[in-house]
Amino acid sequence: MSNTTQSEITYPDVNINIVRAKEPIDIPIVENRIATTAGSPNFIRHITFDVTGTPLEGKVVAGQSIGIIPEGVDERGKPHKVRLYSVSSPTRGEDGAGKLISTTVKRVIDEHWDTQELFTGVCSNYLSSRKAGMMVKMTGPSGKRFILPENPTEYNYLFFAAGTGIAPFRGMIMDLMEQNSKNEIAMIFGCPYRTDVLYREYFEPLAQSVENFHFLKSISREEPRQDGSKYYVQYQLIDNRALLEPLLKKNNTLIYVCGLKWMETGIYQILAQQGYLDYLKVKDELMEKDPASWSWDDIKTIKPSDRMNVEVY
Ligand SMILES: Cc1cc2nc3c(=O)[nH]c(=O)nc-3n(C[C@H](O)[C@H](O)[C@H](O)COP(=O)(O)OP(=O)(O)OC[C@H]3O[C@@H](n4cnc5c(N)ncnc54)[C@H](O)[C@@H]3O)c2cc1C
Ligand SMILES: NC(=O)c1ccc[n+]([C@@H]2O[C@H](COP(=O)([O-])OP(=O)(O)OC[C@H]3O[C@@H](n4cnc5c(N)ncnc54)[C@H](OP(=O)(O)O)[C@@H]3O)[C@@H](O)[C@H]2O)c1
Repeated sequence: MSNTTQSEITYPDVNINIVRAKEPIDIPIVENRIATTAGSPNFIRHITFDVTGTPLEGKVVAGQSIGIIPEGVDERGKPHKVRLYSVSSPTRGEDGAGKLISTTVKRVIDEHWDTQELFTGVCSNYLSSRKAGMMVKMTGPSGKRFILPENPTEYNYLFFAAGTGIAPFRGMIMDLMEQNSKNEIAMIFGCPYRTDVLYREYFEPLAQSVENFHFLKSISREEPRQDGSKYYVQYQLIDNRALLEPLLKKNNTLIYVCGLKWMETGIYQILAQQGYLDYLKVKDELMEKDPASWSWDDIKTIKPSDRMNVEVY
């Protein structure tokens, strides 16, 4: 596809806060299936909700989040607060009619940082344990900007996701496929183990059958880079430069980043090293230093440009 001159990128108006935390609605779960494969130490689930007949029906756009309020009270005896989860369904829902929306939830399970006791996150475990037929209290949607732009098929995309950060991109890519986008789309996904490649059953065949779609995996703990270091998503910019450079050079390419807090910093550094400053707002004085030597304080001054959308938590 030839380059188009980049004009201002605009985003569709989307609904937010139709259902507020003060008055959440009861929504049934229709499916709750494991999304990691046997042997994985991580429990990530694809959960589908039926919002038929509620104010959320047909109103949740790929990239937005829903809120879930777990049952029970916190350690202070107060009702639990809402937790946000990105929808992984496309804008027309899993059913094509905006009635079934889904998310991708990872159980937060760890040793407590201070007490050494087992630490289990409240909402992720509550939600993961709910079975089809059970209800949850839902709010939303939230998020106005981490969505596809107006006229989405006019752009190329580099989507970078760590772990469950792939959720919004599944929906966005399904939207782009439905609109028969002919521009280039690279889904760059990172996870610890081969067992954790989320939505592999969708993305791998898609990459085989759709010439302009590319699925790049960085399996950090099992498939190191040639120098033996951990494979993180940002290193695909170096190791797969032949594929990604032509995309980055087009002035109708957008970058989206979703997942772990701070994962964007490695992407910023490599983009700056490679000279792709259209995607970043970097102070002139910072460019006098080699990006590889940027300190943490330096990195914190960098902001994404309007060609890059970052949502990391
Ligand atoms: C916009 C947005 C979208 C999101 N989308 C998704 C999504 O699609 N999928 C998904 O899985 N998550 C998503 N999240 C994260 C999600 O909202 C919750 O934060 C996550 O599920 C943890 O919630 P929890 O109730 O299970 O954990 P909590 O009970 O809230 O525990 C987590 C808290 O405990 C602390 N903590 C964590 N580990 C330890 C430890 N070992 N010892 C002591 N303290 C610890 C953390 O600092 C954190 O504040 C999203 C967040 C945002 C803001
Ligand atoms: N809309 C949103 O904002 C949204 C949506 C969904 C999820 N999330 C957030 O995304 C996070 C996903 O966590 P997860 O537990 O699913 O992921 P994870 O499995 O722990 O990590 C995914 C991969 O990222 C790697 N990684 C670690 N540090 C990195 C860095 N600095 N740069 C690049 N890659 C790095 C990990 O490698 P190693 O572990 O081997 O080091 C692993 O391979 C959660 O914090 C969740 O809150 C946000």
